Amino acid sequence: MDVIIKVSGLKKYYKKGKKLIKAIGGVDLEIERGKFAVVEGTDGAGKTTLLKILSGLETPTEGTVRIGNTDPGKLNEEEAAVFRRRYLGFIFQDCNLIPVLSVWENIVFPLALDRRVWDEAYTMEVIRLLGLEKILDACPDSLTGSQRRIVAIARALVSRPSVILADEPAQDLDPRTGDAVIGLLKMTGREFHQTILLTASDRKAAHMADCIFAMDKGRLLSERGRCLC
Ligand SMILES: Nc1ncnc2c1ncn2[C@@H]1O[C@H](COP(=O)(O)OP(=O)(O)OP(=O)(O)O)[C@@H](O)[C@H]1O
Ligand SMILES: [Mg+2]
Repeated sequence: MDVIIKVSGLKKYYKKGKKLIKAIGGVDLEIERGKFAVVEGTDGAGKTTLLKILSGLETPTEGTVRIGNTDPGKLNEEEAAVFRRRYLGFIFQDCNLIPVLSVWENIVFPLALDRRVWDEAYTMEVIRLLGLEKILDACPDSLTGSQRRIVAIARALVSRPSVILADEPAQDLDPRTGDAVIGLLKMTGREFHQTILLTASDRKAAHMADCIFAMDKGRLLSERGRCLC
């Protein structure tokens, strides 16, 4: 099995005043390259924390994480930023678009930050595939919720990452639109040979997943991170 994401004995505790919050209480997880995996769990289950640790935005309290050959938690700040830009596409729960930039500027922002020569034809292909050509000059505030999510997907895709981490991309969307957004992610994942790890608070994404993990109170319910399907 070609494992691209491997999490072992992961724990993450946050301190809130004198209280210790166990966001992740011992997670083992393996995801095979090229799969479309879903972590399902209710509010506060630890889904966002898990994705943040995978991307190096948070460090674990205990345990190890590997994305390919990299442990994101062991990188310094600059290395972690480069790793995220080149290897990972992160679709944030709240999209995180920059309000003062146009749709086009938002999409190419990570490429511009990297100061590398980028593949404009590929960027245009992503934009076409996601149906964003007509709103490239719009500002994020004028978009619908689903358009904002699709822009966030495009921004995550254009740097050709091997792994896409999508935090509840169908949240707040009606079921049909949510399905369409997840379908787009699955389609682009296949098209561009990516591994996708998506979180969801309901069963919206389940029928499209290659594997599903159920998360509750900081733990995966399936034994040792094995798929439930
Ligand atoms: N920075 C933080 N400081 C303190 N507690 C935190 C922090 N981030 C998350 N938590 C707590 O950790 C737990 C897991 O949070 P997390 O956001 O990972 O859950 P989630 O599954 O993404 O929930 P949601 O469905 O609401 O997005 C929650 O109890 C949350 O309040
Ligand atoms: Mg969350």
